[in-house]
Amino acid sequence: MIHARITGTGSFAPKKVLTNHDLEKMVDTSDEWIFERTGIRERRICEKGQTTSDLAYEAAHRAIKAAGITAQDLDLIIVGTLTPDSAMPSLGCVLQAKLHAKKAAAFDIYAACSGFIYGLSVADAFIRSGVHETILVVGAEALSRYTDWEDRTTCVLWGDGAGAAVVQRHAGKRGILSTHLHSDGSYGDVLHIPGGGAAHPATHDTVDKRMHFIKMKGNETFKIAVRALEDVVQEALDHNKVKAEDIDLLVPHQANLRIIQAMAKRLNMPMEKVILTIHKYGNTSAASIPMALDEAVRDGRVKENKLILLEAFGGGLTWASALIRW
Ligand code: ACO
Repeated sequence: MIHARITGTGSFAPKKVLTNHDLEKMVDTSDEWIFERTGIRERRICEKGQTTSDLAYEAAHRAIKAAGITAQDLDLIIVGTLTPDSAMPSLGCVLQAKLHAKKAAAFDIYAACSGFIYGLSVADAFIRSGVHETILVVGAEALSRYTDWEDRTTCVLWGDGAGAAVVQRHAGKRGILSTHLHSDGSYGDVLHIPGGGAAHPATHDTVDKRMHFIKMKGNETFKIAVRALEDVVQEALDHNKVKAEDIDLLVPHQANLRIIQAMAKRLNMPMEKVILTIHKYGNTSAASIPMALDEAVRDGRVKENKLILLEAFGGGLTWASALIRW
């Protein structure tokens, strides 16, 4: 049986820490409000001049090292991001050049916070169909560059970072057992960046109207997210004929501790089985799952043969799950 298996992970967060107390000096908010509503205490922010590809490179380099391969072994690089260094070239191509991964084709996936699982799903399909053997999947974001630092409803949420996984062909039972991807574009405007695309190219007016920043109807997004995540998790369980109690570890997208707790409750899962990084990194969109996964791999919580469930929800709207036998 051929599976796509994660053989190495890596992650990277910029050094600069922005705490809730720092934010209290910037907008009308409080550490108490932010922590109670989201579970976030602090987040990492890119230094001046530091870019998404810098973060992606560090995470990718660590994943490649952990997998025991070189960048020249990569057949393909897939990057989930909504904050590439520029509109063109893709972040995947920028990363390919930085890694000197000469053989690898590269492209980006634009699925916001679901980007890493979407990337994993594409890698899984390429590997199982025999097209490629060794694929690098990255989630990388510099959300701070798209943050409206005058909007207290969003600026307290986002953080910067990157995570990566090397996915390789494996003849055996371990690896990605399933991925399920969903979208509903009719809710596009609950979470979006209205300016800078073909509909509203950058002008003085779009800048004045603050259209280049992330906008979110938080409450509406919250309600849809809980429902969609419940459905996609159930779909993964049913598809694989496993019970919630069979799951050893949950690696959720880190958007809101209350959403994560609701999912754990739904799965009847103690919080010790849930990987949490939201308190220190905030919501890093496509980077959040691979960063959390890497942390759990490196501290030994992810072990051989464990059953691991990844789930994400984000702009698009998009949502997704992946079930992995490690
Ligand atoms: N500090 C203090 N008060 C605030 C702040 C703040 N930073 N932000 C909002 N408030 C106020 C609001 O103005 C509102 O006041 P009002 O009642 O006087 O109008 C009150 O707090 C409650 O606001 P809500 O928006 O209802 O707060 P809620 O409990 O929904 O929490 C949050 C907001 C944290 C954004 C939550 O809705 C959430 O996490 N949503 C889901 C996010 C998500 O999953 N996103 C998808 C992934 S992200 C991606 O794809 C990039």
